[in-house]
Amino acid sequence: MFIILIWEYGGRYEKKFLGRFLGLTALMFTLLFTTASAEVYEGTGYGYNQDGIVLGVEIKDNKIIDIQIKKEQESDFAKPAIKEIIKRAIATQSYEVDGVSGASLTSEGTKEAIEEAVKASGAKLTKVDAAFKTNTKLPRQADVVVIGGGGAGLTSAIAAYEKGASVILIEKTELLGGNTNYATAGLNAAGTSVQKKLGIEDSAELFYEDTMKGGKNRNNKALVKVLTGKSSAIVDWLLERGADLNELTSTGGQSAKRTHRPTGGSAVGPNIITALSNVAEKDKIDIRKGTKAIVLVKNNNKISGVKVKEANGEEYIIKAKAVIVATGGFGANAKMVEKYNPKLKGFGSTNNPAIVGDGIVMIEKIGGALVDMDQIQTHPTVLHKKTNMITEAVRGEGAILVNKDGKRFIDELETRDVVSKAILDQKGKSAFLIFDEEIRTKLKAADGYVKKGYAVEGTLEEIAAKIGTDAKTLEATLNKYNEAVKNKADNEFKKKTLPKELTGTKYYAIEVSPAVHHTMGGVRINTNAEVLGKNGRPIKGLYAAGEVTGGIHGANRIGGNAVADITVFGKIAGENAATYSKSVK
Ligand code: FUM
Repeated sequence: MFIILIWEYGGRYEKKFLGRFLGLTALMFTLLFTTASAEVYEGTGYGYNQDGIVLGVEIKDNKIIDIQIKKEQESDFAKPAIKEIIKRAIATQSYEVDGVSGASLTSEGTKEAIEEAVKASGAKLTKVDAAFKTNTKLPRQADVVVIGGGGAGLTSAIAAYEKGASVILIEKTELLGGNTNYATAGLNAAGTSVQKKLGIEDSAELFYEDTMKGGKNRNNKALVKVLTGKSSAIVDWLLERGADLNELTSTGGQSAKRTHRPTGGSAVGPNIITALSNVAEKDKIDIRKGTKAIVLVKNNNKISGVKVKEANGEEYIIKAKAVIVATGGFGANAKMVEKYNPKLKGFGSTNNPAIVGDGIVMIEKIGGALVDMDQIQTHPTVLHKKTNMITEAVRGEGAILVNKDGKRFIDELETRDVVSKAILDQKGKSAFLIFDEEIRTKLKAADGYVKKGYAVEGTLEEIAAKIGTDAKTLEATLNKYNEAVKNKADNEFKKKTLPKELTGTKYYAIEVSPAVHHTMGGVRINTNAEVLGKNGRPIKGLYAAGEVTGGIHGANRIGGNAVADITVFGKIAGENAATYSKSVK
């Protein structure tokens, strides 16, 4: 009304220009001050990390306008889930959105933060229907279909693409990475350019011997020859594609420093997954997340495609000349673990919850042979009564294990089966991993554990009190161990590698116990990564790589050999599948 009056006043007295100018100015002021301005409300939710996910939710006129991430310390692989939930919340104007499969805790934490902020604002949101998936409109044919988007799947997809094949990669969760996202210590390889640069002497033969010994000579020798012989080349292949494998450490059962890891000691898996995802994106490889393989289509002992199911329930067949199965093992499938090894009933698992053996089941159904299914490895140092793995690299850097009496009880760098058993033989079936400030600062993963609140910290006396042990005994244990390091001889437990003395005024202790970590058994393959049928002959067009396969690691896998396995055999599977696809009409 006020504006109309000014407008009219200017017009009547023929001071039109001044009147209309005043009118427009008044209109602008009115718009500025009468429209509700957007406000940002803060909300916190809890995912993997205790520090929480803090979001700023911008709300205006009962609508979510934008959401900013203010603070979060989720695992690298889970970070994209935060952005995905934010996208879904804005699109649907709701915090009650589906979680991102593969990152359920992070999804819940993100939704919780949005909910808290929306509730604090008092806004009444109106839910909007929004469709997210359109995969069913995409091509249904390729030379090579890769099932599984972890380290083995991404490696094979890239290798097949680089050999000239058209590739579709399907991943049942909505995040790439699978179990590789959890791989921490590193990738074992011998005779590499990195070792040469750092003056480490090693050879494929020594690596072969360590792997066979670690696996109690149950391993398939031909596969181990390929794994160890091609390990050096795979390091260069990954470096060329952007992975950082420039530092070295050790894990149990190795006679040379050959565990290649990123600079600063951060986790190897997320580093490799990021590098390979970037390559796959640049190559425009058709990656379909949220798409699950349900049946391998086989005609006359020859693979011809995969039947898949979309998140919206729709099923269809993707025709393929070759299929690579890279779905991982079955470490997160407690029933399957118990079926094949009843002694592990009730054990926790370090695995990504999606790793439930579906590829093994699919291959078995079409006549594929299985091997070593009862050979299941526990990781000795998992956060007690939880599922978070504390990387072997902490022991590789020099941490020791003590029992509730404050005493060492084992060579900390023995193979995983030996250390796991030794821990289970202790009072309370757990132990404490003790490390100093130097290890914390040198190893990003260790620093992360402290930040996540997994460790108690303080002087030796303080941590003794916190873990409920006698300070004098703990001190004597450390002194004796440091003497052994100085003398390069551990008379008590015959530890072969003695990385460093534990010194300084600040120490950390984490209570740990074993949990299911790696399933050494799986589908039988030959050195070409072809899947073998029960008659011992290859099923034409079917390849497999990574933890879905069995036989490579025998009765016990050496830490760091899984990342070598998934990449070496992932590349072999990809290249061979591409070559084979060219020979098929
Ligand atoms: O302890 C670890 O970081 C695990 C490594 C592996 O399983 O290879």
